[in-house]
Amino acid sequence: MAPEAPPDAARRVEQLSGLLDRHNRLYYLEDRPEISDAEYDALFRELQDLEARFPTLQRADSPTQRVGAPPAEGFETHPHLSPMLSLDNAMDADELGAFAERIQRMLDREESAAIPLAAEPKLDGAGVELIYEKGVLARGLTRGDGQRGEEVTANLRAVLTIPLRLAGSETIPDLVSVRGEVVLPLAAFRRLNESRVERDLEPFANPRNAAAGSLRMIHDVDQQRLRSLEFRAYTLTEGRPARLKTQIALLELLEGWGFLVSPGSQVCPDLPSAIAYHESLLARRSELPVEIDGTVFKVDELALQAQLGTVSRSPRWAIAFKFPPEQATTVIEAIEVQVGRTGALTPVAKLQPVRVGGVTVSNTSLHNQDEIDRKDVRVGDRVVVQRAGDVIPQVVRVELEARAKSKLEPAPFRLPERCPVCDAEAVRLEGEVVTRCPNIDCPAQLKNNLRHLASRRALDVDGLGEKLVDQLVEQGLVGRLSDLFELDAETLAGLERMGEKSAANLVESLERASHTTLTRFLIALGIRHVGETVALLLAERFGDLDPMLAASAESMAEIDGVGPVIAESVERFFADPRNLAEVERLRKLGLRWEKREPKVPSAAETGPLCGKTFVLTGTLSAPRDEFKRRIEEAGGKVTGSVSKKTDYVVAGEAAGSKARKAEELGVEILDEAGLEALLS
Ligand code: IVH
Repeated sequence: MAPEAPPDAARRVEQLSGLLDRHNRLYYLEDRPEISDAEYDALFRELQDLEARFPTLQRADSPTQRVGAPPAEGFETHPHLSPMLSLDNAMDADELGAFAERIQRMLDREESAAIPLAAEPKLDGAGVELIYEKGVLARGLTRGDGQRGEEVTANLRAVLTIPLRLAGSETIPDLVSVRGEVVLPLAAFRRLNESRVERDLEPFANPRNAAAGSLRMIHDVDQQRLRSLEFRAYTLTEGRPARLKTQIALLELLEGWGFLVSPGSQVCPDLPSAIAYHESLLARRSELPVEIDGTVFKVDELALQAQLGTVSRSPRWAIAFKFPPEQATTVIEAIEVQVGRTGALTPVAKLQPVRVGGVTVSNTSLHNQDEIDRKDVRVGDRVVVQRAGDVIPQVVRVELEARAKSKLEPAPFRLPERCPVCDAEAVRLEGEVVTRCPNIDCPAQLKNNLRHLASRRALDVDGLGEKLVDQLVEQGLVGRLSDLFELDAETLAGLERMGEKSAANLVESLERASHTTLTRFLIALGIRHVGETVALLLAERFGDLDPMLAASAESMAEIDGVGPVIAESVERFFADPRNLAEVERLRKLGLRWEKREPKVPSAAETGPLCGKTFVLTGTLSAPRDEFKRRIEEAGGKVTGSVSKKTDYVVAGEAAGSKARKAEELGVEILDEAGLEALLS
């Protein structure tokens, strides 16, 4: 009998699942992680341990039961030829030893007969599957949730190190699935971030997020960025010639077909040599052109791999021996508060400069008040900063011992009650973690809004840099966005570091930027929640601004990918007479775009099941795919697991845990007849 779970364990499991889901989303979907891999791994392990101790607490949709996150919207998804697995981690030599013992035991080997392991650097990038049909690249998928990935073939074709046709003189199997990692080499990563900062775009946190983000570019696809990605193959899951006996031979075959593999892969005959390999890799880590975060050890003999098999999310025959996170300690000299474009007050720690993982850190974001409270960070504290594969290092914890020893007990840090720039009273809405300055005339917001308007994805105004924006606002030349388009060369030429030539150039680029698209115009307005994707959806649906202004929030919310929160934000923005006046003034000053035909809404947006989410479970009278297709044709969505967001669970015969979960959550359960009624 499994032990009864105490209530605090249940609570902790709930809390950990919530945290892991959130960090999964930040990492996989939004490409902006807030915690390091090491912190993530620690949370993940804590949950795994609790679930192992109290199996009744394990939910079917627990973050431990899946790989990665569901695919982002905007791409078609496809099933992988076989699931894309993840790897178990070993954090130290003892855990690697335990892995070696485990496989030895499972394969009934004597203690002295070590099983050779293939060692490969663990590349820190984005996993992809490449499918070749008759030797030609047919499809490329991101890992997605491990079962289905996003179809990013077009973007992958631009990656120079991905062969479009397999090389070699031997006959190539009809169907081949090659898996590997797409990485962005460090030099290219640095160049990319420099150019993003120049263009006032948020830099990527690390090369892995940059690689994942690049693969998922939909609009404005930057070919140069794709070309600088690198693909390195690590396995072949379909189309393995029978003569292949080992992992190392498999890597050689892949090289023969034209792939790069993980550099420096080799066989380690026993545990001591595996540990030595790992240590020497760690010592060379900072010299490598790509980021690696550990060593992957795989049982070299393929027949033994097959014998060992797979458990839930990872194979028994492989393990990732992770590098320890790089840490250093330093002192927080001050905490500054920055005001962003939407008025968000972000606390930024000014650190005594310290080197960690090859970069010098002197500031780091503390994110928000909750994060500060959680870590109890105060000015003057000695803190541990960590860079675990991340280029933006984070404060991991305060050295409370050091605080206790010093006589001065610093006061807890609180975000100011008033905006540090305009002195308006700051607000934090119920349920939000962000504290904001609500004053839309706040100079800090205006400056950031101007930078946003000029950014590449918005109006792309050349020559409107950071310092110039500061001057324009501080000298009172620009008090709202539209003022920009009234500037003349003479006024501009009078500014610091502006000659006549650059003034004339700026006027010209403003004129050029005025002839834009509705999508870019919408982005430029800086409406909350309206980024590139949403702006494009709105522009496609309405074709022009006026029909959009006339539309209700409900009709905007019906657009697939928009939803009620965004729709309300758009409605709120245009309901404010000052924003409307701004839009009118911008149009008067020459902002214009081609009008397009509005897109006719599809069934997904108007069908009887529009906006409804279904989960199918149990045995139904026809294949599930059949029901799925009919639900989708009527505008509904079918997902795999039951959550609060599920509208209906369709339960066939012998429905089990999903139906139970639906009951627990109060989700409506239908039988087939009930579904037919909805469909008709
Ligand atoms: S083998 C079933 N080999 O690390 C085996 N993975 O944390 C699955 N990775 O999902 C992976 N370098 O995206 C393997 N040399 C390597 C790798 C590697 C990086 C990634 C891969 C995997 C993840 C697991």
